[in-house]
Amino acid sequence: MEENLSSEKKIKSLEDEIQRRRAFAIIAHPDAGKTTLTEKLLLYGGAIQLAGHVRARKDRKSTKSDWMTMEKERGISVSTAALQFEYEDCCLNLLDTPGHQDFSEDTYRTLMAADSAVMLLDASSGVEPQTIKLFHVCRERKIPIITFINKMDMPALDPFVLIDDVEKTLNISATPMFWPMGSGQDFKGVYDLKNNMVHRYERVTGGAYRAPDSVSGLDDPELKSMMDEDLYHSFREGVELVKDGLSDFDMELFLAGEITPVFFGSAITNFGVELFLKRFLELAPPPAEINLKSGGSLIPKSEDFSAFVFKLQANMNRMHRDRVAFVRITSGKFERGMNVSVARLKKQVKLSSPVAFFGQERSTIDTAFPGDIIGLINPGLYQIGDILYTGTVPDFHPLPRYAPEMFARLVPTDTGKLKSFRKGVTELSEEGVVQTFSSQDGSTIIGAVGQLQFEVFQFRLQDEYQAPCRLENLGYECSRWIKEEDIKKFSSYDLILRDEKENPVVLFKSDFRLKSFTEANPEIEIFEHPPG
Ligand code: G4P
Repeated sequence: MEENLSSEKKIKSLEDEIQRRRAFAIIAHPDAGKTTLTEKLLLYGGAIQLAGHVRARKDRKSTKSDWMTMEKERGISVSTAALQFEYEDCCLNLLDTPGHQDFSEDTYRTLMAADSAVMLLDASSGVEPQTIKLFHVCRERKIPIITFINKMDMPALDPFVLIDDVEKTLNISATPMFWPMGSGQDFKGVYDLKNNMVHRYERVTGGAYRAPDSVSGLDDPELKSMMDEDLYHSFREGVELVKDGLSDFDMELFLAGEITPVFFGSAITNFGVELFLKRFLELAPPPAEINLKSGGSLIPKSEDFSAFVFKLQANMNRMHRDRVAFVRITSGKFERGMNVSVARLKKQVKLSSPVAFFGQERSTIDTAFPGDIIGLINPGLYQIGDILYTGTVPDFHPLPRYAPEMFARLVPTDTGKLKSFRKGVTELSEEGVVQTFSSQDGSTIIGAVGQLQFEVFQFRLQDEYQAPCRLENLGYECSRWIKEEDIKKFSSYDLILRDEKENPVVLFKSDFRLKSFTEANPEIEIFEHPPG
């Protein structure tokens, strides 16, 4: 009887599984410490031995698989997958966005699979250009954003300047949850405003161990003795000024992406990371209801299974030359071998070989729940945005495509390879590596949001399809979708193309040209995303 009870306890209901899940991404400008923070989060999640893989992946010092030769050669992370780890009773799915200077639509789309985002800032620089771009994608989706200001062990900007920077640059209210005690050589720890606790930082070499934490109240006389008088006074003053703000912290506004709670720490030394993780789990929401096009909403604990494809990756494993579709589960329980319908194809498929990824390692999974990411070996079946379901099909809003910011004419350089050239262009565009357009003169134009997408495209066309090509830069800097009837209203200064679905798109030479055109023609509607 007792045995039965305890085994029953271990079986979690679908609702329990959903409540303990957090699907999130870290958004950051390169070098802010995303790899380091990811590693440290995994360390607390008990994946210590695996944590090194995150860095290995970045440094390319050792990799087990040889897929994406270019990634290896250039030491950059082109692909995006998810890392799953447990902490306390929560199951965290960290969507891994590339940390390279150049970024791509892939990075944007990955954010579609996240329920919240950690915005990581370098305390010496504050909000940087890439942070702004990624922030706006999160903002558009109205997902909650939690700010972690990193590198407090290094000389940092004044915390008030940092808070102000977040508020003014990103137009979001920022509420400190921690307040730092100094920075750089004088960094003494953080004060937890909610719990009225001081967490002291002790320098440890290497940063490979959990940071020692000792806790006492703000009135602890030892606190005064730890800091020089000036630092102590400015710290106390800072706390006085920000502590009232805490009562203004409104959970609903936070969940709607209108307020960001702010934490301070130092990922490299582990300091503040576990404190942050605990609070993150309280704040970040589990998978929520999803608004549908028809007006209703999809409830994650529905008995019916549903999921959508947010990323395709071809040739992940050279041995198998397979294509993997990354799927975010939105409702119901996933079980290996289940039959689901693919909405676009109006066809049933059996999901017999689902895989979970940890960096580049994969393992088969038997069950998964809303908030989880699974990889499906995809023999050219799936497209980005595909909906998988049992029961009735949920009419999700389509995944947005983003207006490219650079364009090039694609010229095949080996006429003997035209067939594989066309195949490669089609498959790589389907995968979302670049967007393809056609121009009036019949040539193929590719568009991307970052230069890296072009390089990856060109490399993969050559490497995987043996179809070399030349890219001729067109010299346009932004694009917008337009209405068919407005085509004639653009001058020869702008270039009109057609996207894969024949929708008209206009290319502008510069942001300035776009701005002056819209100011001069307020009646012409232009769109950042394609219709549909
Ligand atoms: P990224 O993925 O966002 O690009 O950043 P990454 O974690 O690689 O960190 C960038 C650099 O910043 C690394 O130094 C890393 O060690 C350092 N760093 C990360 N967090 C902290 C922190 O809290 N404090 C300090 N002082 N440094 C931090 P690097 O010299 O480029 O690389 P490495 O030789 O340390 O690996």
